[in-house]
Amino acid sequence: MELLLLFRALALPLLRVHAYSSGEPFDSREATIDGVHNALHSGLASCRDVVSSFISRIETFNPTINAIISLNPNALKIADAFDAKIASGNATGSLFCIPVLLKDNYDTSELPTTAGCLDLVGNQPTQDAPVVAALKAAGAIILGKSNLHELALEGLSVSSLGGQTINPYDHSRTPGGSSGGTGAAIATSFAVFGTGTDTVNSLRSPASANSLFSVRPTRGLISRAGVIPISYTQDTIGPIAKNVKDLAVALTVMASVGYDPNDNTTSMIPSSSVDVDYLADVFRGSLKGQRFGLIEGFFNRTASEETTPVNTVMENTVSTLKRAGATVVSIYETVYNATAIASLDVQTSEYREDMDAYLQMSSLSGTRPSTLAELYSSGKFLVIPGQYNYVNTALRSSTSNSSYAPTKLGIQNLTTVLRTTFSSNQLDAIIYPEQKNLVVKIGSPSQSGRNGILAALTGFPVVTVPAGFSPSTGDAPIGVPIGMEILGLPWTESKLLNIASHFSELTHVRRMPSFANSSIEVSSYSAVPTITPNISKIPSAYPVGVL
Ligand SMILES: *[C@@H]1O[C@H](CO)[C@@H](O)[C@H](O)[C@H]1NC(C)=O
Ligand SMILES: *[C@@H]1O[C@H](CO)[C@@H](O)[C@H](O)[C@H]1NC(C)=O
Ligand SMILES: *[C@@H]1O[C@H](CO)[C@@H](O)[C@H](O)[C@H]1NC(C)=O
Ligand SMILES: *[C@@H]1O[C@H](CO)[C@@H](O)[C@H](O)[C@H]1NC(C)=O
Ligand SMILES: *[C@@H]1O[C@H](CO)[C@@H](O)[C@H](O)[C@H]1NC(C)=O
Ligand SMILES: *[C@@H]1O[C@H](CO)[C@@H](O)[C@H](O)[C@H]1NC(C)=O
Ligand SMILES: *[C@@H]1O[C@H](CO)[C@@H](O)[C@H](O)[C@H]1NC(C)=O
Ligand SMILES: *[C@@H]1O[C@H](CO)[C@@H](O)[C@H](O)[C@H]1NC(C)=O
Repeated sequence: MELLLLFRALALPLLRVHAYSSGEPFDSREATIDGVHNALHSGLASCRDVVSSFISRIETFNPTINAIISLNPNALKIADAFDAKIASGNATGSLFCIPVLLKDNYDTSELPTTAGCLDLVGNQPTQDAPVVAALKAAGAIILGKSNLHELALEGLSVSSLGGQTINPYDHSRTPGGSSGGTGAAIATSFAVFGTGTDTVNSLRSPASANSLFSVRPTRGLISRAGVIPISYTQDTIGPIAKNVKDLAVALTVMASVGYDPNDNTTSMIPSSSVDVDYLADVFRGSLKGQRFGLIEGFFNRTASEETTPVNTVMENTVSTLKRAGATVVSIYETVYNATAIASLDVQTSEYREDMDAYLQMSSLSGTRPSTLAELYSSGKFLVIPGQYNYVNTALRSSTSNSSYAPTKLGIQNLTTVLRTTFSSNQLDAIIYPEQKNLVVKIGSPSQSGRNGILAALTGFPVVTVPAGFSPSTGDAPIGVPIGMEILGLPWTESKLLNIASHFSELTHVRRMPSFANSSIEVSSYSAVPTITPNISKIPSAYPVGVL
């Protein structure tokens, strides 16, 4: 009897070695969609092997960077079901068996949506956001939820539930934000790609600070329904990935939702942007003859250890573009001043109304506040000193404030100014560093120096690409990543991805963080382990529940 049990226990692993001939565990370091699919189709790995490999990396390296809020307890069961599909020759979908992390402000019925806020731990959606449903329909496996700056309100990526996420390239720095958990996690290969949201900078700052690629899509391209909102005017959602090809595939799936009656900005999608395959044109053509505008106002020319590396990387970038046959035109117009443009930010007028509408959705179950005011009377949140004013204003404001309509007109003016810059200089795209300085240190009052406001207000699309690294230091063995925004006219995502792919082929900037660059042993799991965020890493400068 005992012998039989022993034999049974051994038989399973032996059978697996038979089925998957190499015997080498799937290596998830820098794994891409193609890499996963090749491993599956050649029989080198099962879907369970792929998912287990990412979970093992999370178990090994997440204690250092604290990027994960929760893992999906269903992930291995789904992987097993996918292995059955492979066995029956029925494996389909552009994201088949691709592990994906959701920023924890996206609704999925599989996990709570917390936005990193202790007052939202009980917020359990009964439905997937349409964009999450689209990812799953294409075969993606929702591996878990990533940390974010609490409620996505700043760029430091610290939250009362998730704690402080650490930059994988320099453990003394933040990972950018607010989608900083996704950025740190994808840079460390915790999943193939992840999702973020962007109200001012939040898909671009984490891409920049983690040597990754992201798309902030044209306002209206992707339905935001089922994603915790901040601003009807400024919110967008999109993917963050390790290369342009994966980014294009992820965008294709996320944008496949198309018109959604629950987000009326999707009614603006022109017919030429319906059901686009963003992979189709990614590698076509070259940079030769393309014209780029470089915004001088989006630099800080005061030399310092924090600014000079950004300026040097951008100088090299301009040289690279010119060598490839492109023209770079400097734009000196003083209107391009990120601080001045920020006076048109409408978040505080829209936040309360939009958040109340989200909290009252019938698709949510569980215990949660029913209004923003109730949330901010709970004491179960963390407030960065610089955010007090913002939240207090939002609690008192609405779109009926007398300042709202004129500010919206100011945004229309800015949009015309930007279109004029494109037309008068015959530009294909506008380029500038995402951040004028390196991503800030942990404990800083704000993520200062970012340039995201221009796209946030005008709704123009941006693809962010790795542009370089600062010099190596004791804290940053391979340097701190520096990213560039490539901003285009509305609905030109294909063109921007094409520019990004040529640029990245010329430069090959992206590198994995050295602290996590070794291959690891892959555990054989009977169940998905539970991950507990480490809140002891919250800097003491950020009090909990004081407003
Ligand atoms: C393949 O999957 C589809 C969709 O789930 C299903 O309708 C079909 O019956 C399956 N075919 C086989 C051969 O299992
Ligand atoms: C679009 O939807 C928002 C709420 O999501 C609503 O406030 C607004 O009135 C709608 N706009 C139009 C023109 O219907
Ligand atoms: C520019 O950079 C310097 C040096 O880091 C810094 O002291 C200064 O505050 C920055 N200026 C602005 C406008 O951000
Ligand atoms: C940018 O705008 C801010 C706020 O209006 C102003 O203080 C600053 O001087 C401007 N910077 C430049 C370079 O003009
Ligand atoms: C809106 O009006 C309220 C009440 O007058 C005021 O306290 C608040 O600051 C205003 N908000 C904005 C964004 O102007
Ligand atoms: C918009 O631009 C026009 C023309 O330049 C100007 O007269 C008007 O004051 C601007 N409106 C706002 C709200 O900025
Ligand atoms: C990992 O990082 C170390 C330190 O930077 C470096 O020496 C090594 O070559 C890296 N290994 C790989 C596989 O990239
Ligand atoms: C949490 O983080 C602190 C500070 O980095 C560290 O000392 C502690 O060991 C961590 N706890 C766990 C359980 O990983």
